[in-house]
Amino acid sequence: MPPQKQTQQKLLIKGGKVVNDDLSVVADVFVEDGVVQQVGPNLNPEPSTGLIVLDATNKLVIPGGIDTHTHMEFPFMGSRSKDDFYTGTKAAIAGGTTMIIDFAIPQKGCSLTEAFDTWKSWADPKVCCDYSLHVAVTWWSNKVKEEMKHLVQNKGVNSFKMFMAYKDIYMVNDEELFAAFSCCKELGAVAQVHAENGELIAQGAKKMLAMGITGPEGHELSRPEEVEAEATQRAITIANAVNCPLYVVHVMSKSSARVISNARREGKVVYGEPIAASLGTDGTNYWNKDWAHAAAYVMGPPLRPDPSTPGFLMNLLANDDLSATGTDNCTFDTCQKALGKDDFTKIPNGVNGVEDRMSVIWEKGVYSGKMDENRFVAVTSTNAAKIFNLYPRKGRIAVGSDADIVIWDPKATRTISAKTHHQANNFNIFEGMVCHGVPVATVSRGKVVYEGGVFNVTAGEGKYVSRPPFPPYVYKRVRQREQVCQPAPVKRAPYTGVVSGISIMQ
Ligand code: URP
Ligand code: ZN
Ligand code: ZN
Ligand code: ZN
Repeated sequence: MPPQKQTQQKLLIKGGKVVNDDLSVVADVFVEDGVVQQVGPNLNPEPSTGLIVLDATNKLVIPGGIDTHTHMEFPFMGSRSKDDFYTGTKAAIAGGTTMIIDFAIPQKGCSLTEAFDTWKSWADPKVCCDYSLHVAVTWWSNKVKEEMKHLVQNKGVNSFKMFMAYKDIYMVNDEELFAAFSCCKELGAVAQVHAENGELIAQGAKKMLAMGITGPEGHELSRPEEVEAEATQRAITIANAVNCPLYVVHVMSKSSARVISNARREGKVVYGEPIAASLGTDGTNYWNKDWAHAAAYVMGPPLRPDPSTPGFLMNLLANDDLSATGTDNCTFDTCQKALGKDDFTKIPNGVNGVEDRMSVIWEKGVYSGKMDENRFVAVTSTNAAKIFNLYPRKGRIAVGSDADIVIWDPKATRTISAKTHHQANNFNIFEGMVCHGVPVATVSRGKVVYEGGVFNVTAGEGKYVSRPPFPPYVYKRVRQREQVCQPAPVKRAPYTGVVSGISIMQ
């Protein structure tokens, strides 16, 4: 039987403070048919059977989180990530996230459309909240170009990720980057990069192993900050050469964040995405004496051993140097990580975050005094919706928006632990972190899917969300520049003097 659709239910959220990225106002929210119908004081919808009322007094009513970066059930490094589209989206909901954007990643030489269809076939029967798919460009040809066009025009894809790392697997070179960025620009898509120098990683790994460094610390030592910063700078330079907007995924270091911040100050259209892991923990864990503990944090680019990194990235996120947040949720349990017990290069790369992103950002961002509730909404939801052209359907609580809503208790606390989380993994990289800011209820398309620790989800109830090209938030500037910022030749009289050269005597 197909999953029962329950989006028809009527819902009244009473007495909360409705927080958007630009404004907070105490108001009720009335929802019907999965869409926000009214926002205002003392709403009194006609009493009808099936009206559900949620009391949000003294709570915040915020747009559901959008996680810009996940890898559910991803076949990767000889394994497959533990969270599938069911456990992953269920965990997301428990944490106040109502939409994820995952990545369809073809092998080199393989079809992008087939990868998209494959990932969609995995997700559709399992997702408990809405989702969308970025698509990776792992090689280049005319066929790839045609497929990008097809995906944009017929499949609702408006973002493509290029890997500058994973040599011989997913990595593309500068010429391919140039071609892919040019194509994104033509199609109105956002180019994304995994910015690390894959050649230097390969050389660095060889060097560490030759020195007898086989443990997780070798992962960071073989690809230090400048390896990330160099690729970030290179990607920005290439994107700027073709006037293509660029989104740098998983910003993990101060060096790379500085490169993005400087580029934005130069007026370049570039966005940086720190993740829950880089904002909430650090790379000192790679030096932990317990191998399993250290391996748990292995991801690419690595977390950084400089303990001031998370606070620095949060400052930049608060001040709009960095723009949106994801998690890179790509969970491998200890037994899977153990594939690399004798060689750090074989440890499957990836960490958790989809459940904890919102709480970690509230704790380290808002509770710490770095950002206010409106900026919190901007960086957890609205900016992602704007960049990936989902706004104002997603990322805002307003009449006509999808009723993806979270009732957020800013005063309540919870302690993150693998013992209580809803992810499929046996550990949590934020284990023991006490977070202020707890989702008390999560509403997905008008249905209360989580309340007070109790789920009401159905696998397959989430929907694939198409994203049209040319997001105005990103592309207005790009188009204007295209029109007015073209170089022109200097008009001058022709040179009429003597032309001399050397004549080559045979
Ligand atoms: O370690 C990571 N980041 N795993 C997922 C793949 C990627 O590079 O995003
Ligand atoms: Zn990546
Ligand atoms: Zn441990
Ligand atoms: Zn990733």
